[in-house]
Amino acid sequence: MKKIKLLLAVVCVVALAACCTKTEKTEETMKYENETIETIMERRSIRKYKPETVARETLEKIMECGINAPNGQNKQSWEVRVVDNPVVMDEIKAVMAEAYGDKAEMAVGCFRGAPVMVFIARDLNYDFSAYDCGLLAENIMLSAQSLGVGSICLGSPVRFINDNPACAPILERLGFSEGYEFCLCVGLGYADEAPEAKPRMKEKVKFVE
Ligand SMILES: Cc1cc2nc3c(=O)[nH]c(=O)nc-3n(C[C@H](O)[C@H](O)[C@H](O)COP(=O)(O)O)c2cc1C
Repeated sequence: MKKIKLLLAVVCVVALAACCTKTEKTEETMKYENETIETIMERRSIRKYKPETVARETLEKIMECGINAPNGQNKQSWEVRVVDNPVVMDEIKAVMAEAYGDKAEMAVGCFRGAPVMVFIARDLNYDFSAYDCGLLAENIMLSAQSLGVGSICLGSPVRFINDNPACAPILERLGFSEGYEFCLCVGLGYADEAPEAKPRMKEKVKFVE
């Protein structure tokens, strides 16, 4: 009898815990229709990161989501280089600092302090490759968001690196294939800020009646 009572008590506790968790989740997601919409609406560009890096396992999951983005004719017209080693990131920054001299701080600052940097290159032989790369980047950022990892899409490193011949060693180090052009970066890491959403121009969207 004692054992049955104990068993019943355990069942009750487990059921109560499950019930509470569900209630919590419902309350959390009440602002949005579902978790996908929540992930999209809650993502913000992060420009202040905690120093800790993102585990390789998490990054692999995020990259898997990246390459599952829609892409023209399934050409997968991107190449991706993930730099999660701080020594390599420091090497890249050192080349940029040297290349930009008195503008070094501004050049290196283009990475916004993200501990992990994803460098993306597009296939120059495919006219839609920039779109493919943009969609890949968005999948990376949204999956990161869903896993609690902050992100930022970055165009400025492309200009700093591609426009200055002294930055060529960075491109060599990244080792993109012949015929690919470095075109976008995504920074990843744990957010140390929670920026508000920037206003959106709803009038840009019109339904054609
Ligand atoms: C193609 C592209 C390039 C961007 N380049 C930079 C950049 O170089 N530096 C930066 O701080 N933010 C950059 N951003 C982030 C935008 O500033 C940001 O997405 C925009 O202000 C909207 O804010 P939100 O992402 O928080 O919604 C870039 C975004 C995109 C899509």
